[in-house]
Formats: sequence, structure tokens, C-alpha cells
Amino acid sequence: MTQKPIFIRHANQLITIKDSSTAPLKRQDMNELHIIEDGSVWLENGIIQAVGTDVEVSKLYKNRLAEADIIDATGKIVTPGLVDPHTHLVHAGSRENEFNMRLQGASYMEIMNAGGGIHSTTSATREATHEELFEQSYKRLNQFLLHGVTTVEAKSGYGLAWEHELKQLEVANSLNEKHPIDIVSTFMGAHAVPANYKETPEEFVDLVINEMIPKVAELGLAEFNDVFCERGVFTPEQSKRILEAGVKHGLLAKIHADEIEPYAGAELAAEVGAVSADHLLRVSDEGIQVMAEKNVIGVLLPGTAFFLMADFANGRKMIDAGVPIALSTDSNPGSSPTISLPFIMNLGCLKMGMTPAEVLVATTINAAHAIKRGHEVGSIEQGKKADITIFNVPNFYQLIYHYGMNHTDTVVKAGKLVVQ
Ligand code: NIG
Ligand code: FE
Repeated sequence: MTQKPIFIRHANQLITIKDSSTAPLKRQDMNELHIIEDGSVWLENGIIQAVGTDVEVSKLYKNRLAEADIIDATGKIVTPGLVDPHTHLVHAGSRENEFNMRLQGASYMEIMNAGGGIHSTTSATREATHEELFEQSYKRLNQFLLHGVTTVEAKSGYGLAWEHELKQLEVANSLNEKHPIDIVSTFMGAHAVPANYKETPEEFVDLVINEMIPKVAELGLAEFNDVFCERGVFTPEQSKRILEAGVKHGLLAKIHADEIEPYAGAELAAEVGAVSADHLLRVSDEGIQVMAEKNVIGVLLPGTAFFLMADFANGRKMIDAGVPIALSTDSNPGSSPTISLPFIMNLGCLKMGMTPAEVLVATTINAAHAIKRGHEVGSIEQGKKADITIFNVPNFYQLIYHYGMNHTDTVVKAGKLVVQ
């Protein structure tokens, strides 16, 4: 069935974001939004066909206006569909039992080392069937969509055994097919050392390298390979071998780096040519410098610092040093149980010294580049996918200023109206 075109008209601010399909934005470019007042956009065949002022676009389509579904965006802002480039979407269970422990002073790592944390979600995920995981994750995706997000990266890493890693990756792939949101898959077999390898972690590393990574690549189940490089989890040396094995099999590298302690994770990201290094709460100055030199995107996750009551990553310093920055929820059941990117934007401004313009770039075009989708989504440009969010606020400052509430009004995904 052919779909009707959608014509979004009269946006108070049509925020197109600077067209940068080949590389993420850096430094001053992150702070310069491209905004069209009284802006309009014509969407057809799943693609953005024309962008401009209402006078310009309506002139182009003057003979076809009657054919289109018209959405009046008067008094509202129109942005690219938001992109969340780091989530642990597919999992079972919830960990509110840890909340009280942490409020009484137990640390995230203590809880994990005592068999809770990632291990507790691993048990729940192993017990869940494909259908149960699908259903729970599908509901989370609905919430993402309702908050204006149209593309989500999803990591495995709560299986920690081939059968269950496979199940998680297959669920992510079925979600990609069945849910309007596009899912980009990351293999994260090296998320924790499972209990049965506690005494022989090197054997688990070998298993990930020699068995899991080749199978993931062969079955085409993921595009990225990630590792939790942290003291007590995987060492920089083990992480290097795991990431290099991925690269050898065509899986691009990502890394959970310098989250709890400085551990030269950012340096490793630059060394192995990672697409992104994520977290970076405790990154070193050298790490920042080599990331800037090698154009490694820093994916910052302030929801995690907020929820773990830790010091925030210094986004301001990284942007000023020339690191391209993206923002993400890190949505997961333990360290950041949220799906709200708009709340993350607010934290970016209040806790990491970023400007409202920078946080919008960090959740659109730079987030798209962090998952190698910068050529398709993340800005409102002719020829890109028709992924558009309308927020019911008159300017983009209000999106961030009126925090902790959902301003999403309408979402169009691949040219289809999915939230209204
Ligand atoms: O990015 N740091 C490691 N992994 C996740 C948390 C996973 C969990 O606690 O379940 C993160 O914070
Ligand atoms: Fe994470």
C-alpha cells in the first residue's frame, strides 16, 4: 500500500541540525544549531523530500497539498527523531532491591562482586524465554518512542553464555523487524565474568574471542562489539584482545571506559580505532587528547552518574578539547533505569557544562554517528530517513528547561505517523 505524504508545517523552530553526514560535529560546530523559523518539511516514501520555510516548501508542492496528511506545528519545535546510541534494552527483571542497599552506602561494584548487579540481571535474562524478553523490551521501546526517540542501540551482555547471548541478539533483531524503532545491535559478551568462570576469567575471555565473536559475525547478529573495561571486570589487556578480535571479524569497537576508576579505557579506544568510548567519568587528560586526535566519539551517560550518585563526566572539557560528544540514557536495569533522553539532555546542561544546542546535537547527529547511522538519520536533510519528532514547546530551550516531563507531541518514523 502506498503511503500518503506527510507535510509538517509552520514549526516555530524547525531544528534541522547542521548537515554532517560523514563525520560527527566537534567544538564550535556542536554549538551551532541550524534553525528555520516558520519551518516546514515534506515527507514521502519514508524519506525527507524537502525542507525550508513554509513559503518555500508549500510553493514546491502547491499542486499536491490536497494529497498529504497535514500536521500543523504552529507554536512547536520540530527536530530529527532522537537517537539513543547506548542501551542495554533487552533484559529481564528489575533491580529495585539494590536501591536501598545503595542508599545505605553499598557501591555498585560491591553489589556486583557479591553476586548481584549484572549477575542478577543475567540470571533473570537466562531464565526468560525469547517471547518474554521480546515482550518486556517491546514495552520499553514504546516508551522510547513516546519520548521522541526513533533509533536505539541495544547491547547483549546479560547472557554471558552463548545460548543466552544468542537469545538476546535474536530478540534485538526481532524487535528491529516488528517495532517502528530501528535497533542497532551490539554484542557485549564481555559485560561481566560469569560466576562459573570466576576463578578462570582468562578462559571466559578466550571463549568470547574464539567462539562467541566469530559466531556473532558469521550469523550477522551485531555490528558492534563492546567490553566493560573496569578494574575487577575486564583488564585493559583483556579488553584489547576482545576488541581486536571483534575488529578482525568485522565488528566495530565500542568500550565501557573509565566509568568507576581511571583505567586507560579511553586510551585503549583510540589505540584500537573504536567508534566510541562510553561513560568516561574518570577519563584521564591523555585519554581525552588521544580521543580527540583519533576522532573517537565520547558517548556520555549522565543518567548513570546521577543514579549511582557519582561525579559526572566533564562534557565541557571534552568538547573544548575537540572530542565529538554524544549523549545517551545507558538504559539498563541497574545503573540507569530510564528511557528519557530529554531528561539526559537536562543533566548534560546542568551537570556536564554543555549548552542546550550541544545537547541537541549530541542526541541527534552525533548520536547517529556513534552507531554509524550519520548518513541516514540525525538531521533533517533532503534524502535522509523521514524520522521526525515534534515537541510541544515553542523553542528548544524549553524542552530542556521544563525538565522531568514529556514534551513529545508527535513522532513520525520512516514517513509513518507513529505517535500523535
Ligand atoms: O553501562 N557498566 C556496565 N554496564 C552497564 C550497567 C549494567 C547493569 O548494571 O546492569 C552500564 O552502566
Ligand atoms: Fe552501558
